Amino acid sequence: MAEELTVSSGANKADKYDILLPQIEALIEGEHNTIANMANIAAALKQTFDFFWVGFYVVEGDELVLGPFQGPIACTRISKGKGVCGKAWERAESIIVPDVELFPGHISCNSASRSEIVLPIFNLNQEVVAVLDVDSDAVNDFDAEDQKGLEAITNLLSKSFSV
Ligand code: SME
Repeated sequence: MAEELTVSSGANKADKYDILLPQIEALIEGEHNTIANMANIAAALKQTFDFFWVGFYVVEGDELVLGPFQGPIACTRISKGKGVCGKAWERAESIIVPDVELFPGHISCNSASRSEIVLPIFNLNQEVVAVLDVDSDAVNDFDAEDQKGLEAITNLLSKSFSV
């Protein structure tokens, strides 16, 4: 495993995801602890993209509970179906929100957050066990390229979650 993350500052977004993916694979390979893996993935994403907030919420009963993250303090619990995170869990699909003010029920943990993408994380039984939430302080900051790059990362994490 590399001791330091390689981030190519001149690379475009797609290239950054391409450079990051094998490094995350190496980082979590052989480590079964989900907290450790989520913590390093949040740090690697923050270091690569300098997202405003990036982190995980983990399913606990009928709620999501805050997991490892990078950024300002955040809400600790979100009910199923509530906010973008709760909706992504309920629908079991990724959601891109170009402008949080136009998303009914958006949970504002920080007023600086303006757009976001949330991706469900599945265990090997295809049940949603967590979500990855990435927030930006700019409107319209996420697109299909982010969805593709981040889903490749969440797919890697699925292996860490036991069924
Ligand atoms: N934006 C989320 C809440 C979590 S924070 O942004 C970290 C939502 O509406 O689900």
